[in-house]
Amino acid sequence: MLTVEQNRTLTQVGKGTPGGELLRRYWHPVCIARELSHEAPTKHVRILGEDLVLFMDKSGNVGLIADRCPHRNASLLYGRVEKRGIACAYHGWLMNCAGDILETPAEQNDHIKNTVKARTYPVQKFVGFYWTYMGPLPAPVLPKYDIFMRRDGRFKITQYPRLDCNWFVSAENSVDSTHLQLLHQEPPEAKFKPLDSTRGYIDDVLASDYYATDYGIMKKRTYHGGTTDEHPMIFPLWLRTRSAIWMRTPIDDEHTNHWTFDFKKGAPTDEIQVEYLAPFKDPPDAIHPVAKFDNLPRHGWPLSEDVVMWETQGVIADRTQEHLGASDKGVALLRKMMFEEIERVQRGEDPLGVFRDERIIDTNLEKSINMTYPTGHVAKTIPVKEPV
Ligand code: FES
Ligand SMILES: [Fe+2]
Repeated sequence: MLTVEQNRTLTQVGKGTPGGELLRRYWHPVCIARELSHEAPTKHVRILGEDLVLFMDKSGNVGLIADRCPHRNASLLYGRVEKRGIACAYHGWLMNCAGDILETPAEQNDHIKNTVKARTYPVQKFVGFYWTYMGPLPAPVLPKYDIFMRRDGRFKITQYPRLDCNWFVSAENSVDSTHLQLLHQEPPEAKFKPLDSTRGYIDDVLASDYYATDYGIMKKRTYHGGTTDEHPMIFPLWLRTRSAIWMRTPIDDEHTNHWTFDFKKGAPTDEIQVEYLAPFKDPPDAIHPVAKFDNLPRHGWPLSEDVVMWETQGVIADRTQEHLGASDKGVALLRKMMFEEIERVQRGEDPLGVFRDERIIDTNLEKSINMTYPTGHVAKTIPVKEPV
């Protein structure tokens, strides 16, 4: 159980808040790269509570600039892209990717050009996404996690519906080992299901352990029968599981973007497949309890089940009202890590998972790629009834 203040610290993403300053030390995926083109050169994006416009100028440079024009606040989403940047539609102030004011066409004003700057953030294109970094410069490297660097197969990006909740419940879920055997006990294609739906497959698990790595927390399950499964949470936002990585970008305190990035071994191709999933709830923009969730769509499983649990914990989960047990030790470890890393940022240090060298980071991908979770060693099962 946390205090109101501690819960705020873990969940606020805005500039100047302790959590928001921590999150500004990492590169974040902004949008799927193919969504920006010369035909559709501007896109509004909201990240960490800031309204921004991603744009591609006519020279092909891509910038991320504050939505509001520094002249008199008109949106640059409706700006005209030029060879040297983006010109506000209202009075034509022309700005480049660095935020320099290059033209103020209604007047000759060197003072404005020399002293005013639009707020911009660096952008990189990598593995099918545009990414940004919103913290103090110099920016760290965009980490080269093993899954991003594979050249022996193909990638697929799946964009999930926007999460109408704070990002931190999804992070806690990444270090919540036991929910796998309980929440996800009926995979869509399963031939058997547990006899006891309260216990699910939890009796197959001998132990759940967690240990810190230099980029996050490794989760280790040991099953009866000797199988082990180790895959990590990449601090502070992502889950690396099986052959995929689940990536989250906080939109603001109450909304979060979610993508999965899958790797499949096989003939290599440069083309990254992209799929957009339809909402899991109706109405799609409503929140619990008005929204009714489709608890087990075959499409998007198992994440669709996780989403129901995350959103129904509340738009911002009230951690002053909870009762953690020993099986929540991963959650407790993550919270402790968050408070420690926030303090490191406040001391001016790089937090966990910020890298300044280009090495490839091993997240146990090769071992977890073919992991199939053993079920039924101890837990009793019954056949799933075939539909008549
Ligand atoms: S508001 Fe943008 S140029 Fe005037
Ligand atoms: Fe899950």
